[in-house]
Amino acid sequence: MKFSISIRHAMNHLALCLSTALIAVAPFAAQANKALAEKNGCLGCHAAAVKLVGPAYKDVAAKYAGQADATEMLAKSIRAGGTGKWGEMAMPAQSKLSEADAKKLAAWILGGAK
Ligand code: HEC
Repeated sequence: MKFSISIRHAMNHLALCLSTALIAVAPFAAQANKALAEKNGCLGCHAAAVKLVGPAYKDVAAKYAGQADATEMLAKSIRAGGTGKWGEMAMPAQSKLSEADAKKLAAWILGGAK
């Protein structure tokens, strides 16, 4: 019995440590995503809060809020490019972008592109 209690105690500590670590890492992750968007030229056509050539990322996040497969769908849509969802302007395909990076960017955009 003593054994199981101390394991639970250890798990609580572990959970606490992990959540503290995640909180510490979050701002860096957001910066990394912004840098990724910058590096790939996304920010030449998109901004977080205002429409440029393409839709504002906050509008994209609002449009797909609550849609379960939004990250997957947007990651595909980013790599493929397209037109007609937001207006007449076309977004060129981002074929150099890896699937992993496209998913990171999709998740970042859905989170409000902060
Ligand atoms: C040359 C300008 C341009 C560049 C560069 C560009 N976009 Fe776009 N983007 C657009 C336009 C225009 C649309 C709207 C397309 C439409 O109406 O279907 C769009 C749409 C989107 C959407 C919404 C897609 C949807 O399915 O609703 C996302 C997300 C997006 N872009 C992310 C990105 C990311 C990430 C990058 C960089 C890897 C990027 N864009 C680069 C112009 C651009």
